[in-house]
Amino acid sequence: MASQNETVTADEIFKEFKEHSISEFFRKNSQMLGYSGKVRSLTTVVHEYVTNSLDACEEANILPSISVEIKETGEERYSVFVSDNGPGIPKTHMSKALASILTGTKFHRSIQQRGQQGIGASGCTLFSEITTGKPIHVVSRTGKDAFECDVTIDIKGNKSIVTNMTNIPPGQRGLAVRGEFAEIKYENSDHGVLEYLKRTALSNPHAELKLIEPDGNVVVFPRSTDMMPKKPKLIKPHPLGLGTNDLLDYARVSQSRKISSFLVDTFSRVTHDKVNEVKEIAKDVDFGKEPRHMTWDDAEKITKAFKQVKWMSPDMDALSTIGEKQIELAMKNILNPEFMSVIERKPKVYHGGVPFVVEVGIAYGGNAGKQNAGGVSGNILRYANKVPLLFDAGGCAITEAVNTIEWKRYAINMEEEPVSVFVNLSSVYVFYGGVGKQAVAQDDELIEEIRLATMDAARRLERHISNKKNMHLQESRYKTIMRYVSQLSADLEEITGKKHTETEKELKDLIEKKYKSIIADEGEPSEEKPAESADAENE
Ligand SMILES: Nc1ncnc2c1ncn2[C@@H]1O[C@H](COP(=O)(O)OP(=O)(O)OP(=O)(O)O)[C@@H](O)[C@H]1O
Ligand SMILES: [Mg+2]
Repeated sequence: MASQNETVTADEIFKEFKEHSISEFFRKNSQMLGYSGKVRSLTTVVHEYVTNSLDACEEANILPSISVEIKETGEERYSVFVSDNGPGIPKTHMSKALASILTGTKFHRSIQQRGQQGIGASGCTLFSEITTGKPIHVVSRTGKDAFECDVTIDIKGNKSIVTNMTNIPPGQRGLAVRGEFAEIKYENSDHGVLEYLKRTALSNPHAELKLIEPDGNVVVFPRSTDMMPKKPKLIKPHPLGLGTNDLLDYARVSQSRKISSFLVDTFSRVTHDKVNEVKEIAKDVDFGKEPRHMTWDDAEKITKAFKQVKWMSPDMDALSTIGEKQIELAMKNILNPEFMSVIERKPKVYHGGVPFVVEVGIAYGGNAGKQNAGGVSGNILRYANKVPLLFDAGGCAITEAVNTIEWKRYAINMEEEPVSVFVNLSSVYVFYGGVGKQAVAQDDELIEEIRLATMDAARRLERHISNKKNMHLQESRYKTIMRYVSQLSADLEEITGKKHTETEKELKDLIEKKYKSIIADEGEPSEEKPAESADAENE
């Protein structure tokens, strides 16, 4: 060791220099995966497994039935069991899918799915390894394979370790995982598992979700519809969404013979004519050479040229929304509101070429809003690709958009009324504020679009509520007047001599004519019906 005043050489300093695996990195930075705070960590585990189940079922065209069971096994220590009726995982893919970070996903495809990074499931395996040292027990039935095994992660090498592999009798298809985790806490709060599943049920009306809480209480969110969501299509990337590095990545693995044909084959909306336009701008690039010989300089010039060419907008088929009717059904089922209004906007493009769609639903009354010490207040239910976002609300584009609306204008008091504002952002690529994927990055185009959609829904809701209030007023007027008709007719007979039955009939006809709309609408004027949709009325 060098003494205090001696110069230290580079060799000595670099003696400690070594490569770290990605697992090693996340072990030290598990908060980046959502493992910070005891309640949040447990919700993160459930979120990762449930989103995977939903993705898998959707891809396999199966109506999902997902069960989550949480048992307390010690102080701040729980076992989490999640099972689904999805396609399962084949034996050959098990280790990569569940226990090796960034090595097992289909996220490289340009398709809208909840899972995007290939970190979720292996992150859970890593979290159990670092908090309890226990493996994840997996049972998978694919229809071909039926087996159980334990998987764990070798953190230093970012390698999966599969043990106790055993074939089991065939049975109900699907995947079941059981893990034991510590430094976590089950809590029935805004950030807890129950709230998470309730919100998941709202955005996935085709799913049946069941939760068995640590005290044995069973909560079921039944399926609101048997209709599967529209399947998103796999699309080729749009040239406007590409950076220099992205283009080089695609070029390196291309089988095309020339850069020009590579551009046509690989990207959407690129025709030979368009390539000619690009050539005109990126004049000194040789479009005849093999794509794998593309240099950084070439790629930079091509991506710059892409920005100057007029493109057809991206293919919107890649987007899968929940759908207005489906959101209505789910809101009716779960929030049972007095009034609601749902809007699906037309697709838009942000970040140069990435398509997105915003859906907004506002529920008023019933179980909408949030119970708190002072009574009830409005809440924002944030979603990205149908996945509820429970944390980091502060830095999220959705919160920003909803909170900057002047709710008073729509006769809604978010501080004191039972209102839930549901916002779902669907996009092939959601720009999150962090790796934990709990906040949508603030982007001006996106915030504006969410504001417009929410204001549109609020306007409809307001119209609906004021129509209803007006109906109530008319109804009570009608009832009050009718109450006096007989007495008045009798009194008039004394004054005019006209038979009271005649006067009564004439008066009744007159009143009924005036309040015709109420009588026609209700049969007899009656109490208000619950959960009516503003959209139905506006159709
Ligand atoms: N329940 C399941 N049924 C079938 N396949 C699954 C299931 N869970 C995980 N998989 C497979 O394992 C892969 C890895 O899952 P993981 O959660 O790590 O990544 P991801 O879902 O692709 O992305 P993200 O990191 O955003 O969650 C998935 O892409 C999927 O192919
Ligand atoms: Mg996942």
